[in-house]
Order: sequence, then C-alpha cells, then structure tokens
Amino acid sequence: MCGIVGYIGHDNATPILLNGLKRLEYRGYDSAGLAIRQKDGSIKATRRVGKVANLAAALTTEPEDSGLGISHTRWATHGGVTEPNTHPHASWNKKIFLVHNGVIENYQQLKTSLLAKGVTFENETDSEVLSNLIAYNLEQQSEEISVKSVNKAIRTSLASVEGTYGLAILCSDLPDSLFGARKGSPLILGVGKNEMMLASDASAIRARTREVVYLDDNQIVTLNHDNFNITTFEETEVVPEISTISWKDEDANLGDFEHYMLKEIHDQPSALENAFRGRLDMEEGISKFGGLNLSRQAIRHIDRITIVACGTAWHAGLVGEYLIEKYARIPVEVEYASEFRYRNAPMDKNTLVIVISQSGETIDTLEAQREAQRKGYHVIGIINNVGSTIARENDGGIYQHSGPEIGVASTKAFTSQLLILSMLSIYFGRTRDLSYADGCKMVDAIKELPNLIKQTLELSDSIKAIAKKFAHYHDFLFLGRLEMFPIALEGALKLKEISYIHAEGYPSAEMKHGPIALISEDCPSIVIVPDDETLKKNLSSVQEVKARKGKVIIITDSHDIPSSLADELIIVPKAHNCVRPILMTIPLQLISYYIAVELGKDVDKPRNLAKSVTVE
Ligand code: M6R
Repeated sequence: MCGIVGYIGHDNATPILLNGLKRLEYRGYDSAGLAIRQKDGSIKATRRVGKVANLAAALTTEPEDSGLGISHTRWATHGGVTEPNTHPHASWNKKIFLVHNGVIENYQQLKTSLLAKGVTFENETDSEVLSNLIAYNLEQQSEEISVKSVNKAIRTSLASVEGTYGLAILCSDLPDSLFGARKGSPLILGVGKNEMMLASDASAIRARTREVVYLDDNQIVTLNHDNFNITTFEETEVVPEISTISWKDEDANLGDFEHYMLKEIHDQPSALENAFRGRLDMEEGISKFGGLNLSRQAIRHIDRITIVACGTAWHAGLVGEYLIEKYARIPVEVEYASEFRYRNAPMDKNTLVIVISQSGETIDTLEAQREAQRKGYHVIGIINNVGSTIARENDGGIYQHSGPEIGVASTKAFTSQLLILSMLSIYFGRTRDLSYADGCKMVDAIKELPNLIKQTLELSDSIKAIAKKFAHYHDFLFLGRLEMFPIALEGALKLKEISYIHAEGYPSAEMKHGPIALISEDCPSIVIVPDDETLKKNLSSVQEVKARKGKVIIITDSHDIPSSLADELIIVPKAHNCVRPILMTIPLQLISYYIAVELGKDVDKPRNLAKSVTVE
C-alpha cells in the first residue's frame, strides 16, 4: 500500500505533489509527508498524521521551492501512526531522503548491522533502513558525490535488501536529480515537457502528463527535468516504452455527488456499457475478446478453471464459478490469492487460471499469478487498471474499462467483473456446448443491462429511507442461494467496510445450521430472493427468520411476494439469470452507502483500509 509521488521540473513541486498525493489517498491515509528542495539548497521535510488535507494545512506559507521533491501517503505496516514514522525518511546524516511503498522483510537484520556501525535511527519503520543503508554505502565510496555514485550506492544497497519496494529518492548534494527503483511495488515514470514525475500509479501524474513509462521489477531510474535513464539492477540499459494514459480527467472527478462511492454506483450504466462495447456478436449469439491469446481449440481443451482473487474480486470469482459451470459446463474452483500461492493445490494439466483484480496491483493476486505462470499455466486477467503490473505480466486478458474507481469500497468494478465473467461464460459456452438460441438470449440480456441498472438506481430514495430505519442495528445477516450467495457475501462486506457494522453472508439454507442462533429482533436479515426455482425455498428461510422476530429486507425481482412477508421489499427489474446478480447487487451497495452516511462515516476512506493492498 502507500502512495508515492516525486517531481522534478521548473514549477513549484509542493502543489504538484499535494495534488498527486490526493489522487493516491485511496492507497492509504494514515499520514502524509513531503520533502522539498528549497531555493537555498536545503531539503525541508514536512510530515503530518492523518489525511493529505492535514499536510496541506501545514504548508500554508509560500514554499521556497526549487522544483524538486518527493512525497508519500502512508498505510501503516511497520510502526504506529505517528509523525516520526511518516515518510519521507532522512538518513542520519541528512544526505538521503526517500519515500517507500512496500515492505523490507530483512529490515531488522539490516538495522542491527547499521547500528553496529554507528548509524542512528529515529523511528520504527522498515523504510528508514533504506535511507540509512543508501547513505552509509554512499559514505563508504571514496569518490565525490555524483549521480553515478548515488546510483551505485542505491544499487549496492538494494542488493542486500529482501522484500518489496517502489522508491523515490533525493540526495541533498544533487540539486538536479531524482532517483527511483522498483521491485514488487508499482512505480510509474511520467514524462512531461521539461519535467518528470515518479508515482505509484498514473492517477497522480495525469494532471501534468499523459506520457508514462511503466517500470518493471529490478529497475532503477535516474531523472532530471528533461531526461531520464533506466537500467536494470545488473546495469543493463533499458529501452523505455512510452505509453499514453487514456482516462479522461472527468472520470476521476466527483461532479455533483457527495462521495466517490455514490458517484461510482451511479456510473454503473456507462461502466458496464464500456465493458461490453464491441464485445457482443448479436448475429452469432456469442461474446468476443481481443486479448485472451487462447485459440478456440485451446478453449475446447480446458478441463478446469481456477479463479484467483481477493476481497470483492474473489466474490466476483464465486459468481463466475456458477455462471461458467452453468453455461460453459467447465468445472471451476475459486481460491483466495493469498492461499493459492502457498498451498500448492494439485491442478489438472489443462487448467486455465483466471486472476481478477480492479487495481491490477494487489500483491497477493500478483504473486498467485506468478506462481501459476511458474508452473506453466496459461493465466488470463480480468483487470480494470490499464498498464498495471498484473495486466502487464499475464498471458492474456480482458480490461474492464470501468474508469478509475476511487472509493475504497468497490462498486462499479465489481459489477463490471460480474458482467465480464458472464460474457466469458457465453464465449466459452458457445465454443463448447451452449446453443445458439441460449447465446442469443444472453447477449440480448447484456445489451439491455444499462437500462435495467438505470431503473434500479431509481429506487435510491426508497432505499435511502430503508437504510435510515436500519442504521442503528449492530448486526446483520445477508442471505442468498446459488449465485446470490456471493452477492450476499459482497453485501455483507460492503456494509462492514464502510459502516463498521458486523455483517455475515450465508447461503440462505445454511442459516438454519448455525447462524439462526444470531437471529433476534436486534439482528435483521437481508435476503436475496430471485424469481426462479429457488423462490419458495428462499421464502421458507424468510419465514424462519420472521418466526424468530428477526426483521427482514427482501431484495427480489418477483412481483408476487406478499409485502406482509417482509418488513421492507425492494423490487428490481427482471433480467436473464446471467445478469441478475448485477441487478441484485445495486440495492445492497445503496443500503450500505446510505447506512454509512446516516452514521456519519467516512464513506470513501473507511478506517484501516486502503484501496490497493500491495503488501502480503
Ligand atoms: O484491486 P483488487 O481488485 O485486486 O482488490 C482486491 C480487494 O482488496 C478489494 O476488492 C477489497 O476487498 C475492496 N476494499 C472491496 O470493497
């Protein structure tokens, strides 16, 4: 986690870095800091606990800024949320200042060795070891301090470091240089007109330039205001590939919405249209994807699919399991990425691995992908963030095109993952044994989806009123069967994440095997009741809750459920089963959102969370 931004150019670095940090706050918001080279040549660091706004407030006077600086927004791993633990970290001799995203696994051992050599430390972080180690190795060189000697000190230091890092580094003796290094944590170089930037992701750079270079692992970059040079750790020159960022600025703006989460919920009609645009063949009743790198013959030979993801993306994978098994008749396993990497599950020779990640930077998912590739499996990704590490390293994939998702609680990225999995089930199904007629019905249903989402969003006011009534409860159960079970899990996760209310998702019928003990007038249940063959059984579960004085909110697409059965009835439009989970999700997103707002919670930046989890 954590976000880093560096700038070298002719404008004041301070406002550029603050703006970049605000864009990266989704990566962590425990504390923030920056180090700016002043006009008199000194480097001034300012650090504050809390959000970037606190740091900005501490920088009210006109900065004596010379257009060179580094900055950081922190999600604490090693060491508490305190000002001394806030980045940038300076070396004991104030020669090296750096910001770090990642984890240094052998920091204790490196620290002990540096302490024995007389180096002093000021805080509890693993990152401070890096500034001291680089400064120490620089001091050991007999030559005068230069770009070359700092480069060498960085290289020597990183050779003894175990762990992950994206780094931006300043040397107090070099007024025109900024350094970066990457291993395991993302780092992007922004190439502007007479200015360069370093950042954890493109959103921090976009306001200055759209030309970027995605650094790879084991690379070091040296920048001045009009040039840059990338080498590998083994000192091989890298020929950079410059890409252009395609997101529009307005995609990341709040507009008239109070929170990003609400904006992103309302983005869903267009986000999902972007996900299917150009990917549906109405004539053939099939979906199509450009970048899977899988021939039709290869698809016919797939024996099994393993889906790997974390959090909300894992819930999307669970829905994918139902859809792919139902429509493509391929057995599917869904694994937590963090478990997959270490448990060495036996897999069939012809297993296809699908990784799902909004950010494309989740380290657990990235490492799971690498493990699957190491073992020779073809890995495809369903990824939102274009150019992210997972997207660049996999063997093929599908971009979600949801646009930037800034609210920490995933909404539009989740529903677009569901849609892509649905389209994948059509593509695989039609390549194997899904009929033309069934394919056509599914493709038609997908085309209708944006309209149906708009109709569902029109329920917002009534859902807001329901949320107000239920905001004071401390426990909730979310129940759903088959593909609605993962939707129940996702509903519970959304509520937990942003309102800090305890919530659990269960398969409806499992409730009577244990969780029913929780039910009382103090623990309401939100039950998803699709109008299908499970309707009667789901209503039996509702009766069991009501019999125990539990309040019930039913989300359904049936018009035949007597309103007396539920305390609240939310009716979404009817749709084909392949897109129905998407429509059932939207009321759950709105309930969580409005409950959190009612409770006065910080919806877009919930406590303890970060949008992109880049530590294991
Ligand atoms: O970027 P990813 O999709 O890989 O992120 C995975 C999870 O960290 C993420 O879905 C998390 O659970 C969200 N906070 C859910 O709202």
